[in-house]
Amino acid sequence: MPTTDSVNPFVAFLQIIWYIVSSFLQAFYWNLVPYSLKSKKNLHGKVILITGAGGGIGSELARKFAEMGCRLVLWDVVPASNERTAQMCRQLGAEVFTYDVDITNRKEVYEIAARIESDVGPVDILINNAAIINSKDFLKTNDEQMDRLIDINVKSIFWTTKAFLPSMIQRNSGHLVTISSVAGIVGAPGLVDYTTSKFAVFGFMEALEHELACLGHTEIRFSTICPIFVKTSMIDELDTTGWPILEVEYVAERIIRAIRLEQRVLMLPRMIYVLYAIKGIFPWNLYQSIIIKKRMKYS
Ligand SMILES: NC(=O)c1ccc[n+]([C@@H]2O[C@H](COP(=O)([O-])OP(=O)(O)OC[C@H]3O[C@@H](n4cnc5c(N)ncnc54)[C@H](O)[C@@H]3O)[C@@H](O)[C@H]2O)c1
Repeated sequence: MPTTDSVNPFVAFLQIIWYIVSSFLQAFYWNLVPYSLKSKKNLHGKVILITGAGGGIGSELARKFAEMGCRLVLWDVVPASNERTAQMCRQLGAEVFTYDVDITNRKEVYEIAARIESDVGPVDILINNAAIINSKDFLKTNDEQMDRLIDINVKSIFWTTKAFLPSMIQRNSGHLVTISSVAGIVGAPGLVDYTTSKFAVFGFMEALEHELACLGHTEIRFSTICPIFVKTSMIDELDTTGWPILEVEYVAERIIRAIRLEQRVLMLPRMIYVLYAIKGIFPWNLYQSIIIKKRMKYS
């Protein structure tokens, strides 16, 4: 935003108008230019840390990063599945470091982060991916399960980010990626605690980016990823009737594109951007009818 101090008010007014118009023009340009023509971050040789790398999206991301020549740091609470992902990546020629980490254990997260600095070097891209789901109605989910979900899906992201952000700030370079969900922008019935956690991480990413901008640290990149259902073991017990289910490979591919383009928010599939707009514009009963697939009275 241009400053208006000691500038003729008319010139200041024109500067603000230009700031607004040029921002819109840049946004239009960004959205219209095809991916192949956009300038993209080169990830070869970058150190990428993925939490929850043992399964689903985390494992597929690791595989794709390995193909791109990245150095991988894989975290999971289940060593055997983490090692399986690591083996797959090593076979593709990648250098891989695995760590058995329960991301809810703050002390462990900080200790292992310090070890990584000396074992591997600074982390370029941190991908907060690990999460769990409780697929029961709110009143039927027991307190311990909810507590655990918030520890894994929300609080762990404080600890991992606190562990790696200072070095990114010091180097004036780095990228934070967090996997939220469509349930991070619209409330999902039957997934109340999960929705709470995904809204939380969406807010976390936005607030932290604003805060760093206030502090002058504008070189750290932020990407928040909001997919609808993805075919992984996470949704085995969910009723997904009537909703699209994405292939994990497609989702990983899109996440990597978003990282390379330094895209702030990625919603998958594209129609979710429309749903997000509908939420802001439509009367509540129409919006709710779409979410719960049942006509509601206007009240
Ligand atoms: N699958 C979907 O439909 C879907 C949709 C939208 C968003 N997401 C999000 O994508 C991300 C990945 O989901 P997924 O479907 O690949 O899940 P997944 O269950 O297949 O994999 C999650 C991984 O996290 C690990 N993990 C769990 N608790 C951990 C802990 N305390 N410490 C370290 N690792 C731990 C698990 O061992 C597992 O390997 C999650 O953030 C999820 O909320 C998933």
